[in-house]
Amino acid sequence: MSGGDNLEFEIRPNPAPVGDAERAALLANPGFGRIFTDHMVTVRYADGKGWYDARVEARAPIPMDPASAVLHYAQEIFEGLKAYTLPDGGVAMFRPDANAARFNQSAERMAMPALPVETFLRSLHEIIEIDRGWIPQGEEGSLYLRPFAYASEVFLGVRPATEYLYLVIASPVGPYFSGGVKPVSIWVSPDYTRAAPGGTGAAKCGGNYAAGLSAQAEAAEHGCDQVVYLDAVERKYIDELGGMNVFLVFDDGSLATPPLTGTILPGITRDSVIKLARRAGRRVEERPISLDEWREGAASGRVREAFACGTAAVITPIGTIRSLDGEFTVADGGSGEVTMALRKELVDIQRGRAEDPFSWVHRVL
Ligand code: PLP
Ligand code: COI
Repeated sequence: MSGGDNLEFEIRPNPAPVGDAERAALLANPGFGRIFTDHMVTVRYADGKGWYDARVEARAPIPMDPASAVLHYAQEIFEGLKAYTLPDGGVAMFRPDANAARFNQSAERMAMPALPVETFLRSLHEIIEIDRGWIPQGEEGSLYLRPFAYASEVFLGVRPATEYLYLVIASPVGPYFSGGVKPVSIWVSPDYTRAAPGGTGAAKCGGNYAAGLSAQAEAAEHGCDQVVYLDAVERKYIDELGGMNVFLVFDDGSLATPPLTGTILPGITRDSVIKLARRAGRRVEERPISLDEWREGAASGRVREAFACGTAAVITPIGTIRSLDGEFTVADGGSGEVTMALRKELVDIQRGRAEDPFSWVHRVL
């Protein structure tokens, strides 16, 4: 049994929250993932007992035994989504039910217990409500929510743990890339792949990101913002970036993005882009895209635009693609028209400024 379907959360407000003036100063230029709110959510799990002891409490270090299984075998998963201020002063999340579903798909892949969807959603509501003063105002600002769970059992044997801790922390954020919405450059890793068939590529587990850090460092050494991974079998097809999915826009107005075959993360932004583009009458193909097709298409003009998308990056144009064989740019390396129109459409829905045709906006306050 997983328990926790109707867990009550005990609320223990932080007795020493950050003062108003200090908080306002922090919110003026939050960056990404550097500052955190006053609270966190914790929920415990034990085999036989299910989920229990749900709390909202002061954000604080978590005591951890050095033999906690996660420190050794990386049994950990996470999610990322944002809360936005609406024009009427309310607050909404974007598609949190999709994050709940993906969290449980990741849990299944990592042999972890599922968390009831109601508990996941409730935990987000609770932290948004208590920390609502931390949502940055302004066009690029939002409250980034980071739900995660890890194996807390004290045990060094290699098997799924019997105890877990689920937490939510929240971080006021501005744009993910420090340059704002400018085209990014990407590095094609010659050595590293991200995920192989049968591996954990479709799960949002910390291990995938640890495995990508050397490739990301290599990208930075080559002056690039992000790494793009090729498939692990043929080293020919585009998979995704370190933390974003990829789309190409063609000269006939159609779009293409790599298919969900288990090696890439099924991005919620990716799914939203596909639905919005199709609704506007564009053809969108989910199919393998080779690096050669991208390079040749950029040269011939068939590939007009390219963009990366994800919760943190929203929709960000890709300008330059660099590899050991040299580099190429898509069109003039600037921000494409279709890319920027999709971005505006998505952001306007997320922020409650446009009609919400798919009922994606989940009002919290
Ligand atoms: N791919 C990876 C590896 C990611 O980390 C993310 C970010 O969450 C994405 C894609 C985009 O997913 P989403 O749009 O759900 O944020
Ligand atoms: C996100 O977009 O939520 C991500 O997880 C990307 C990165 C910050 C890991």
